[in-house]
Amino acid sequence: MSDKLWGGRFTKGTDAAVEAFTASIDTDRRLAPYDIAGSIAHARMLAAQGIIPAADAEAIVAGLEQIAGEIERGEFVWRTDREDVHLNVEARLAELIGEAAGRLHTARSRNDQVALDLRLWLRDTSAETVRRIVALAETLVDQAERHLGVVMPGYTHLQRAQPVLFSHHLLAYVEMLRRDVGRFQDCWARADELPLGSGALAGLPYPIDRWRVARELGFTRITRNSLDAVSDRDFAVEFAAAAALVMAHLSRFAEEVVLWTSAEFGFITLDDAFATGSSIMPQKKNPDVAELVRGKTGRVYGDLMALLTLLKGLPLSYNRDLQEDKPPLFDAAETLLSCLDVFRGMVASWTVNAARMEAAISDDALATDFADYLVRKGLPFRVAHEIAGRLVRRAEEAGSSLRAITPEELRVHSPLFGDDVAAIDVSAALAARDVPGGTAPTQVAAAIAEARQWLAAARAFSPAPSA
Ligand code: ARG
Repeated sequence: MSDKLWGGRFTKGTDAAVEAFTASIDTDRRLAPYDIAGSIAHARMLAAQGIIPAADAEAIVAGLEQIAGEIERGEFVWRTDREDVHLNVEARLAELIGEAAGRLHTARSRNDQVALDLRLWLRDTSAETVRRIVALAETLVDQAERHLGVVMPGYTHLQRAQPVLFSHHLLAYVEMLRRDVGRFQDCWARADELPLGSGALAGLPYPIDRWRVARELGFTRITRNSLDAVSDRDFAVEFAAAAALVMAHLSRFAEEVVLWTSAEFGFITLDDAFATGSSIMPQKKNPDVAELVRGKTGRVYGDLMALLTLLKGLPLSYNRDLQEDKPPLFDAAETLLSCLDVFRGMVASWTVNAARMEAAISDDALATDFADYLVRKGLPFRVAHEIAGRLVRRAEEAGSSLRAITPEELRVHSPLFGDDVAAIDVSAALAARDVPGGTAPTQVAAAIAEARQWLAAARAFSPAPSA
């Protein structure tokens, strides 16, 4: 005889290896608060609909609340032989309240139960992710404001291209994070649909009230098709995809931090609390946080790939394969949240070496401005570009620089050069780029103000916790 909650049709116990192989409790125990919240809502609905006696529902709710306390206090004993979070909770409930516990699973299957738990978890985790992305974005906006006026070379192809404000560079990452916040708000909304009431796959032969459960758990919608509801994990894929994209952004930033902290760049210095040393080279101070964020990006991409592959070719409806959704999903979330946290701390505590950034802007970076000067004097841009290019080559050959070429010599290349050419310098180049989205100080100051408004709006996204 099997002692499993599903043991009726079995004549012997599960092989020990199979028991260990099929158990998911080490992973899905973190769903417990959601599992319990879902069960409480379900039990109350069953009683309200006259499907189970009110006294039993009361005992069930009281027992579940006690279990929640045991879990919170770390007293709960998780048992592998009880397979997963759902059966661990239900078996413990039976120990606590006896026979009434057996009525909880009326009009419910673990298939719609686990779909519910995951959606509740995903809503909360999406909201938490939004909070942490917003916190990082806020730190970047703070830095952009504090260092407004600091100039650096802007790069394309990692070659010095044109001068930009350091703040403008930071705000580029804020833009990425703003899109990320939108994606996680979308993840929240996608998960905001109650699957409970789908049963194992076909719906349920009881007069249940799905809307009542939806309301109690804060869902706006209920799923429309029971087969889809128990087998849909699109929301998990979308979450992992959104996480992968944040990691792409963080890893681009991390790469710049690695470059910037090198002696060759020297643009920023990391706080000692956010760097590590070498066990052999005493002089080393390494940007390990940035490197690990860059490295962990691969992990999250892998999580996304695992989820996509998991769904490929799965027939309807629930299949046990779906249990494998949790490790990658939880890993993506935990990795992302920790990366966001340490990244924020690293940025908040770094030192910006303004002089090094400014010194890295060579006159070459003003070549476009020389061309633009000639355009303002009437030349077509292509012709102006050619002349400025010759000037760059001339300066290079002379071992000199663009701004060191005398007005007389400039006029050899084009008679349009007047003495006002001396006004071409870094701050003029910045100020000239006075278009929306440009790096002119006035534009960047406005961008900071606008980003602050967005931060306030993004902080207002704080849906009620799911459990
Ligand atoms: N632990 C299972 C999972 O994570 C719960 C659902 C089990 N359903 C079943 N029919 N065996 O997917």
